[in-house]
This record gives sequence, structure tokens and C-alpha cells, in this order.
Amino acid sequence: MRTVVFSTKTYDRRTLTERNALLGYGHELIFQEARLTLESVALAAGFPAVCGFVNDVFDGPVLEALSAGGTRLIALRAAGFNNVDLRVADRLGIAVTRVPAYSPQAVAEFTVGLILSLVRSIHRAHVRTRANNFTLEGLLGFDLHGRTIGVIGTGRIGALVARIMAAGFGCRVLAHDVREDQDLLAHGVAYVDLAYLMSESDVVTLHCPLIPATRHLVNDTTIAAMKRGALIVNTSRGALVDTDAVLEGLRDGQLGGVAMDVYEQEADLFFEDLSNEIVRDDTIQRLLMFPNVLVTSHQAFFTQEALIAIADTTLASIAAFEQGRKLETAVTHALIVPR
Ligand code: NAI
Repeated sequence: MRTVVFSTKTYDRRTLTERNALLGYGHELIFQEARLTLESVALAAGFPAVCGFVNDVFDGPVLEALSAGGTRLIALRAAGFNNVDLRVADRLGIAVTRVPAYSPQAVAEFTVGLILSLVRSIHRAHVRTRANNFTLEGLLGFDLHGRTIGVIGTGRIGALVARIMAAGFGCRVLAHDVREDQDLLAHGVAYVDLAYLMSESDVVTLHCPLIPATRHLVNDTTIAAMKRGALIVNTSRGALVDTDAVLEGLRDGQLGGVAMDVYEQEADLFFEDLSNEIVRDDTIQRLLMFPNVLVTSHQAFFTQEALIAIADTTLASIAAFEQGRKLETAVTHALIVPR
């Protein structure tokens, strides 16, 4: 099927091209480096299928333009679908597919890496020793064993993080979700309400989707309810966190540190080399000044296994749509209506 693929880097183009040939789909893939926005949507005119990533914009005006240009399928190369106005897509009769689970292990393992880096200041130590500073002053951490980890959202990724932290590190794990994973109960994980989780946890890690009910779930009030000096790790979606509230919490010491792989305003920054430019986003610049802040640019998914799985599921979804088969990976507005 003729598909225009937005926001592509060399690794996307290589993997999609190789898997398209190897698996014999024969899709005609036209790659664009550009991010899909209202400014770039003309590039999609005439393509029945549009493939996008996390920072491509599928809001009302873009969807209207896509529909007018003949697009009938949006195939997301991501698990999250918060960047698509599903209500409008449903109304226009544009099908939307995603990659529900490509490698939850990739994201869970990266999350645990961020927790360890933050707790033991590994990111700071690395920078210091490269400058021949071999002191330990300021790098004092704490044992994770016996500490309390709060996991918000225990779906595919959160459940893995909960298991690794409980079984691997000997942590007490508290969880909060709108539905309980019975297997986790058997692993000693306790489901509690959000307020209790925030007040008890030494590390809070976010793994719920970004939907209206979870936007700015971490805010002034929830941060104030946390243990003084507790840490926040976010590998889910930037807007789960009110970044201004986090800055305030870091400044007055209420937060002991923050690791984030996602950022509310990441669309203008992440996946780009801006090292020769003046970055005009004061919020991220202020965050990066804190020694106890660790920022990575939406990297948690980025493993060989995940790239292949993303390509395979995306190509299969496009083929299923082309052949009029049932779309196992479809997302509709009904998915985000609170249960
Ligand atoms: P999932 O759908 O398997 O799990 C999400 C969990 O959140 C579910 O158990 C759901 O019941 C729960 N949830 C829904 N509403 C909630 C609420 N109001 N409060 C608490 N929990 C709630 O999703 P998965 O695969 O575990 O992914 C989680 C998130 O991770 C995705 O939504 C995506 O935004 C993000 N992600 C980030 C990546 C990265 O590279 N940084 C890569 C892949 C996913």
C-alpha cells in the first residue's frame, strides 16, 4: 500500500525497508524526515496510508487535511496515541492503528536504569571522572533494597518494572491503577490509592497513558504530598507531569531528583541535534541545570528488538487494512473513555 512515513531517521528507514522486503509485504514506502504538522501535511496528499511517530501531530485540522487528501489509515509506530484526536478520526472514518506492545522490556529496563542512575548519581559520576575529578563528595546515594517504589499504571511496562523492583531489588512496591493485575498481587505488590502511594514512596515511576484523567497527575498538590526528597521517574508521556511544579519541587528540595525520558514540550526538541543552536525553551534549560535531574530524549523504546517489532506490527497493520481484514491494532475513541 502507498504509505508516507513521517519523522523518519536513518534507523527507521533501514528497519522498515528491510522488514518490508524480508516479510514480502511490498508496500510502497515514501520516507519523510519532516514531522507531521499542519505546515507539512501537504506531503501526505494522495497517500491512502500515513505512518507517524510520537511527536507527529494528528489534531483536528491535520486530520481534516489528511482526509481531504484521501488518507484512510493512520498507522502509528508507537504504543501511545495521545497525539491523535480520535474523536475527529472516528468522525472522518480514518482508521488508526498503533503498536500496542513492541518491547515492554525495553522501556522497563531503561526505567530501571534511570532509577539506578538517579539514586546513585551515576550520570554525575561519569561526567566528573571524565574531567579527572575522582572525589565522591555529593554522590551519596541510598540502597534500593527495602525502599518503597510507587508504580503508577501497571500495564505491560509498569508491571515489568514492579516485578523487577520487587524481585530483583527487594523493594516494597506500591501500585496504583484503575484495574488490578492479579499476578502482581502474587508478587507482593500492593494496590493503593494515589495519595497513599505518593506519601509512602521513595521513588515514583509513571507508566499510565496520557489521557485527560492523567494529564498533570504530578502537580503542586501531589508533589507536596510526597515524602521529602523522593524521586520521580517518567518514561511514559511528558504531560503526565506539570514541569513547572517539578522545578518548584526541585528548587525547594521537596523533590530529591527527577529522571525524565519524556517532556511535555519535547516535540520541538527531542530526536534533533540542537547543539549548535540557542534552545529557547527556558524550562528544559532550567531543568538541565539541576545536578539531580537526568533527561534522555525519548530513548526508552530504542532497542534492536523494539525497532524490528515496531516495523513488523506497523507493516502488518497496513497490510490488514489494505486487504480489508479486521485491525487487531486499531485504536478508537472508546479506548480512552474512562472505565
Ligand atoms: P498499557 O496500556 O499496557 O498500560 C497502561 C496502564 O495504565 C493500564 O494498566 C491502565 O489501566 C493504566 N491506567 C489507565 N488510566 C489510569 C489512571 N488514571 N491511573 C493509573 N493508571 C491508569 O501501556 P504500556 O504498554 O505499559 O505503556 C505505558 C505508557 O508508556 C504508554 O501509554 C506510553 O505513553 C509510554 N511509552 C513510552 C515509551 C518510551 O520510549 N519512553 C515507549 C512505549 C510506551
